[in-house]
Order: sequence, then C-alpha cells, then structure tokens
Amino acid sequence: MKKYLVTGCAGFIGSTLTDRLLAEGNSVVGIDIFRDYYDVNIKNRNISAALGNPAFTLIEKDLSSDLSFLNDFITQSDQLVVYHLAAQAGVRKSWGSDFRIYTRDNIDATQNLLEWAHSRGGIKNFVYASSSSIYGVPAVLPMKEDQTVPIPHSPYGVTKLAAENLVRLYTANMGLPSASLRFFTVYGPRQRPDMAFNLFIRAAFEGKPIGVFGNGGQTRDFTFVDDIVNGLMLAENSTKGLAMNLGGGNRVTLLHSIETLAKVMSRDIRIDFSESKLGDVPDTWASTELAFTEMGWKPSVSLEEGLLQEVNWLQS
Ligand SMILES: NC(=O)c1ccc[n+]([C@@H]2O[C@H](COP(=O)([O-])OP(=O)(O)OC[C@H]3O[C@@H](n4cnc5c(N)ncnc54)[C@H](O)[C@@H]3O)[C@@H](O)[C@H]2O)c1
Repeated sequence: MKKYLVTGCAGFIGSTLTDRLLAEGNSVVGIDIFRDYYDVNIKNRNISAALGNPAFTLIEKDLSSDLSFLNDFITQSDQLVVYHLAAQAGVRKSWGSDFRIYTRDNIDATQNLLEWAHSRGGIKNFVYASSSSIYGVPAVLPMKEDQTVPIPHSPYGVTKLAAENLVRLYTANMGLPSASLRFFTVYGPRQRPDMAFNLFIRAAFEGKPIGVFGNGGQTRDFTFVDDIVNGLMLAENSTKGLAMNLGGGNRVTLLHSIETLAKVMSRDIRIDFSESKLGDVPDTWASTELAFTEMGWKPSVSLEEGLLQEVNWLQS
C-alpha cells in the first residue's frame, strides 16, 4: 500500500500538505512533537480536520530521539514517500543558547530520519523542506541553484543547509531517492504567528501600528502556501537528489507588500520602524527555472490574492 509520512504535520505547511494528501484519497502517517515555539492550540487546530479522517494516523514523537517506533506504523510492504518538514523554523531566535534547539530539531532529527529511511530501504522518495535562508546575501540576484554559492547569513540558515547537505549525501553515497525544495517566505492560511504577514494583519485588525525591522526596502519573494504544496506533490517523482527553489514570483519590497495589504484590508496601516535584526537578509529572489524544467512547477497565486486568503483566515 502507498503511504505518505509527513513530519511536522501539525505545523503551518505540514498540516496544509497533510490535508491535501488526504483530500486526494491518500493514506498519511504524520509525526509532530508539538513544540511550544508558538501556541500549541494553533497546531491542534491545524491538524483537527485530518484527525477526523480514518486515513490519517498521528504520532506525537520526537524525531531527534530513537525512531524505531516508526516500524509499528509503517510496514515493509508499504510504498513510502517521506515529506520531511519538521524543524525549528525562524531566523531571529537562532542565536545564542537557542541554537541547540536548531541543531537538535533541524540537523540531528534529519540525520535520524535519513538513517531510518536508509536502513528500511525501498523509499520511493525523501522530500526535504529546505529554505531560501541557505543562500545568505549573494552579490547577484536572482538566486540560482547552480550559480549562487550558498553562504547562510543566520544560524538557522546554517542548520537548514547542513540538513540539505545530509540529504544530498545519503543520495550520493547510499542511493536514497531524494529532492530538496528551497521555500521562499511562505504565507497564507495557517501561517506561523511569528511571521510578518500574520503579525501585520493582526496588528491592522486591532488598529495598532505594525512593526517593521529596517527601512522596509528589503525585498522578499513571497510564496503562497498552496503553490508550495503543489511543488511538494510534484516532487514525489523527482528522485535525483536535486535542490530546487520554490519562489512565488511575488518579489516586492516589504513596504510594497504592506501597501498591498492595506488595499486588501481596505484600511490605513501605520508603521513603526526599528533597527534590522541580526540574521535578516536584504533580498530574496528565486530563479524557478529548475523547478519548472524538472517538475513542471510554476507559482500561480498573486500576492493580492494570497493576502486576501490569509486575511479571511485570520478574520475567521
Ligand atoms: N514558513 C516558511 O516561510 C518557510 C520557509 C522556508 C523553509 N521552511 C521550512 O518548512 C518547514 C515547515 O515550516 P513551517 O513554517 O510550517 O513551521 P512550523 O513551525 O509551523 O512547523 C514545523 C513543525 O515541526 C514540528 N517539530 C519540530 N521539531 C520536531 C521534532 N524534533 N520532532 C517532531 N516534530 C518536530 C513542530 O512541532 C512544528 O509543528 C520547516 O522545515 C521550515 O524550515 C519554511
């Protein structure tokens, strides 16, 4: 029987992917340890629809510990696709002693899962959620997989690149089928409460000024979550160990994105500027040619359309 293993299944992107896989009639085993980096009630809500589906099994376990429990849920005859999205996300908290959390949940957990996948064998594909944060501050834009040397600018980026390299070397040495997808600033319904648009929309609803670090001239290639999920679905059949950018084609300055938000919400938005934070990068911009030639992937949701969906979700 074909099965999907989704790690981080209660998170923003993992729960959206889980719902899509279930909606298409698939059988899904989800793992999440419900870290309290943000309110766990939000994760419970994210996963509530899936829990009502008999084709879904939730395992509340830590991927950075012994993974032999997985063999109770996945039999050797299952044809397995692994979507590895569990991680400690977020650039800003990755300094100082919190770095241990990042090495544990991003590097150790990935290495554990790769060891398990390799020793089990017969994996159809291992798809890893990588990040634009691996690129750092390149001199030339857009960021291109075969031309931009990845030099992360934050401890978080270092751990995401380390894990991506682990995936690549299990493919190169042991023949594990894999793909790494480098997500560029993902937004939409269920976006994490520490991410900019979620913070901005809630502040705007409350009539409070929104906080911007830096002068707002930084650019981001915002990517709607359904476009990311489409890329993850297509990546099931890309097994050569490629790392591919998934960027939304909505590269704008932060100030422009706030203007778009004000239009979508039909209200004036006030901004409180403060100093840039350590680890923040001036620009992100994805070349998406590789994802198109390899998987036929193209982003399709405009910033205005995507923001409207996130506003409606937060309002409800
Ligand atoms: N959101 C973005 O813009 C973005 C951009 C680039 C890459 N990514 C990557 O995409 C993935 C998903 O991000 P998200 O925004 O949905 O984050 P999220 O925090 O909402 O989801 C991650 C989930 O992983 C779980 N988790 C963490 N460590 C675990 C462990 N050791 N064992 C089991 N579960 C564990 C957490 O409890 C959480 O529910 C991450 O790998 C992240 O690095 C996200």
